[in-house]
Amino acid sequence: MLIIDNLSKTFGKGTINENLAIDNLSLFLEEGEFVTIIGGNGAGKSTLLNCISGVYEVDKGRIMLDDIDVTFKPEYKRSKFIGRVFQDPLRGTAHDMTIEENLSIAYDKGKPKGLKPGIGKKYHKLFRERLSLLELGLEDRMKQKVGLLSGGQRQALTLLMSTIVKPKVLLLDEHTAALDPSIAKKVLELTNEIVKEYNLCTIMITHNMKAALEHGTRTIMMLDGRIVLDLKGKERKDMTVERLVEQFGNKNGLYNDRMILG
Ligand SMILES: Nc1ncnc2c1ncn2[C@@H]1O[C@H](COP(=O)(O)OP(=O)(O)OP(=O)(O)O)[C@@H](O)[C@H]1O
Ligand SMILES: [Mg+2]
Repeated sequence: MLIIDNLSKTFGKGTINENLAIDNLSLFLEEGEFVTIIGGNGAGKSTLLNCISGVYEVDKGRIMLDDIDVTFKPEYKRSKFIGRVFQDPLRGTAHDMTIEENLSIAYDKGKPKGLKPGIGKKYHKLFRERLSLLELGLEDRMKQKVGLLSGGQRQALTLLMSTIVKPKVLLLDEHTAALDPSIAKKVLELTNEIVKEYNLCTIMITHNMKAALEHGTRTIMMLDGRIVLDLKGKERKDMTVERLVEQFGNKNGLYNDRMILG
């Protein structure tokens, strides 16, 4: 579903600040594969997601999404196929529009002009159904502006919006890091449910090592723009946070203040 082939990205090429952020990185993901990514500050995690979604042009390599070569496609064209949720709950939704209007924009994404439904009765029902899955009571507040919601509620809504049309890949960049622990847990559970329901190819960056091992089907560790560990199957099942820190901790800069171990 997602092929990243020998990708490199350097910031500030030819300047004193030249910085190789992604170093010849390759990664192949099947449909339904759910990868968690860990790594210290500046390892290149966010840059990788930004390259996949077309925020940054890459210097070298190829990105294929479901047999489509998107390497040189602009961000707005790729956004039809890609669901994204960022750390900042304010980023994914329009605060002065209602919940229903936000969902309707997400639902229209990628549909040709003339087929955009607006908020018809049918969609109202669909949005209600989807919102009720969150168990946050938002289905009864559809005419309210999103700006009235809490960070956690907004993040749950963003997750729903980014998957209401099935994306080819879902990219999550520390999407629960800014939330209270209890709501973070809920958003994480919801993430699992949605990924399973749609069999989504998903990449989730987290600084919580326990969450990285517990969620998804595969865990990757990045360092200096490269993949230095790729855990799947039994090897992943047998891995503990303690062993991860012991083997890869200090020397990889993985263990830093932001890393949550337990
Ligand atoms: N727009 C940019 N311009 C210049 N340098 C950048 C830019 N974005 C990222 N970098 C640099 O690229 C490197 C990788 O950054 P990136 O944001 O991908 O790290 P990260 O793994 O997401 O770290 P964190 O855990 O702190 O979020 C860093 O050295 C960073 O300073
Ligand atoms: Mg980052």
